[in-house]
Amino acid sequence: MNCAVIGLGKLGLPLAGMLHETGNTVLGLDYDHRLIESLQNGSFRSAEPDLMPLLRPSPRLSFTGDYARAVQESHAAFIVVPTPSHHTAPRFSLKYVKLALDGLLASLFAQKRRDYQLIVVSTVMPGACQNELWPQVLKAIPDAEDRNIQLYYSPEFIALGSVLQNMRYPDMILVGAQHTRGGYELASFLQQQVLNGAPTLVTGWVNAELAKLGINSYLGLKMTMANMLGRLAGKLPGADVDKVTDIMGHDSRIGPKYLRSGAPFGGPCLPRDLRALEASLVDHEVPGRPILAVSHYNEELAKWLAQEISRIAGRISGGGVPIGLLGFTYKSGTPVMEESPAQSIAAFLSMWNHPVHVFDESLPASQARHEYRKFHWHDSAQAVLQCCPVLVLPKFSEATLAGVTLEGWSGTIFDLWRQRPQWAGYPDVTLILQGIGPPPPSTQEIKDDLERVANPPERPTGTLSERATAARPPSA
Ligand SMILES: NC(=O)c1ccc[n+]([C@@H]2O[C@H](COP(=O)([O-])OP(=O)(O)OC[C@H]3O[C@@H](n4cnc5c(N)ncnc54)[C@H](O)[C@@H]3O)[C@@H](O)[C@H]2O)c1
Repeated sequence: MNCAVIGLGKLGLPLAGMLHETGNTVLGLDYDHRLIESLQNGSFRSAEPDLMPLLRPSPRLSFTGDYARAVQESHAAFIVVPTPSHHTAPRFSLKYVKLALDGLLASLFAQKRRDYQLIVVSTVMPGACQNELWPQVLKAIPDAEDRNIQLYYSPEFIALGSVLQNMRYPDMILVGAQHTRGGYELASFLQQQVLNGAPTLVTGWVNAELAKLGINSYLGLKMTMANMLGRLAGKLPGADVDKVTDIMGHDSRIGPKYLRSGAPFGGPCLPRDLRALEASLVDHEVPGRPILAVSHYNEELAKWLAQEISRIAGRISGGGVPIGLLGFTYKSGTPVMEESPAQSIAAFLSMWNHPVHVFDESLPASQARHEYRKFHWHDSAQAVLQCCPVLVLPKFSEATLAGVTLEGWSGTIFDLWRQRPQWAGYPDVTLILQGIGPPPPSTQEIKDDLERVANPPERPTGTLSERATAARPPSA
């Protein structure tokens, strides 16, 4: 098929690459001219795994900023532009989706096109297609139905750092459609693009919109459950949160994915999908306390972790002790900083007067130094170690920790994901494994305790002054 992909960002460009890889002719469109230029002249670089080989020059892959050309050369357009939201404005904005649709619809109208598929991939609020986007289509092209111009909603369930892997092996292909027949046709096309024959789910627009938010919010809830259990396990002698969540994950009703205790969850999707679901619940006057509690707990967790770290760091060397963070982006393998838990922890520590030293292999120090000036940036984990007696491992990142040696270093390490239990072997290192409780009492300690209860030490008799007189040495 000839496809246009509108919006060549973190999601759109991998989608364009994958559609090209599976044999389609793809025209990528973005209104960022510099991005288009860099894609055209081959200077574009991305850290997203597997993406660069898919962008090699090919007669079936081109890039433009021109909507008329995009419509002329395609039968379907995937719209993957941002739908921004904020803490204070949690509903996804349709501004850029509407701009993209405007560009497409004007050209579809001018070119008198028939049989065209408009596929919204961007995350939108429940009701967006029905209430805002389809009316926009009808306003621009009143006979859109007769011309078989269709609007679909087909979100992707991907995580940055594994976008292509997730796209090639999805759990499902979800298509929200006004008419199921067209929906099944699109779903069957999309199924041919993936490598695992994922099941296709075709439903109405609003069901697909709500399911997208439901899935991510549920994942947030699951991770919050693991994090809460981690905090509890950390207080229970003998407890190990990984053993607990492993057992829970064996229950097929629960499953093991996203059930690992560590830092709060972050990134460009989950927190904002949760907030959007909350907003939708408010809009429709549906009580949404469980979901509100998840967001609140997640935000509070970063502060609590920072407090724990600062408290113990203060106990070691007084206030203002330098603290090192090995890891800063929201997850491994991506330079993305949006809602990064490590950044929140660092911000609290810095606010409480701790100099914060950072290394993250996925964030070039030169870029970070410029953007996050209040922190001290280093080019290696070892360099951070050299100036900090307290170290935090805030995200799961083997690459950032590669080659670190604790020989000759003394201090305290907070390992939020329990990545380096072997570091407990260093005599001068205090390792705090988040989610692991204090050691349980030994049988001997329990026996001693029982003994103390059964035979309490003899209570002294007499008044205090009688006892004092008795204890005084006889005068000469
Ligand atoms: N990034 C993710 O992990 C992820 C996952 C699932 C869903 N999504 C959703 O996908 C959508 C896109 O996210 P992203 O992370 O790829 O965004 P992004 O900011 O990385 O990229 C968006 C691109 O769209 C371009 N653009 C904006 N308006 C345009 C317009 N009118 N015409 C042409 N180009 C335009 C921008 O220049 C930019 O290159 C959002 O709705 C997001 O919620 C993202």
